[in-house]
Amino acid sequence: MMSASLESRSKPTASSLGYPTEDGCHEMSEALKEGLTKDDVEAIYTDWANKSNGSYDENMANHVYKGPYLVAKAVNDNCPDKNIHILDIACGTGFVGQHLNHFGFSNVDGMDASSGMLEKAKAKHVYKNYFCSAIGPPNPSTNIPDHTYDVITIAGGFGPGHIPCEAVDEMIRIVKPGGFIFNITRANHLQTYSEYKDKWEPYIAKKEEEQKWREICRTIFKNYFFEKDGIMYIHEVL
Ligand SMILES: C[S@@+](CC[C@H](N)C(=O)[O-])C[C@H]1O[C@@H](n2cnc3c(N)ncnc32)[C@H](O)[C@@H]1O
Repeated sequence: MMSASLESRSKPTASSLGYPTEDGCHEMSEALKEGLTKDDVEAIYTDWANKSNGSYDENMANHVYKGPYLVAKAVNDNCPDKNIHILDIACGTGFVGQHLNHFGFSNVDGMDASSGMLEKAKAKHVYKNYFCSAIGPPNPSTNIPDHTYDVITIAGGFGPGHIPCEAVDEMIRIVKPGGFIFNITRANHLQTYSEYKDKWEPYIAKKEEEQKWREICRTIFKNYFFEKDGIMYIHEVL
């Protein structure tokens, strides 16, 4: 039986033990507020990338945010050829590129809407080409030729003012037939944010009806970001 003194002692929490908590990740909450414009999002990430204390890389390390590792591992598990041409969209400071390089993939390009995030990625030398661009409307299509890439990766690219549903068309255009799109994000984002709710699932299903791509699998990952679930979609471009 538990002693009275132990019963009365309050339970330690992650923050009382000094562990990082989602509550301490203020910028992530700021970047995910409903109603943000593309310019807001660009500014929030650029500021965060450059913070001297509590930068993106410090706050979003592997032990709290597993998206970059998981998407790179999925590429490694499914693509035996290490020379494939990969585009990492919403590459941020280059976490996915770092993991892909670690798995032996070196033919990787990075694209991000935030110049500040992209500058941090450049300093890591994990991508060959860098595109500072927001994919999807209202922007016109990228200048990337049709069927350039074997694989697209996206980790954490969906949220208010982030990648719009319609960007899927541009991704399909620049991937080779038979190539793959690996997309991991927080599971609730595509169901709850107004930009995706009642839109994302019908949109991606329509692309399947049009025989533009087919869904290979969708997998839920526990503790993707702190205790929150992630979802990874893998689509084959047809
Ligand atoms: C949560 S961060 C993820 C960064 C990186 N993939 C990672 O996992 O660490 C989201 C990134 O998406 C970028 N972003 C938002 N909307 C975008 C768009 N339409 N096109 C390209 N990048 C975008 C932001 O600038 C930001 O760097």
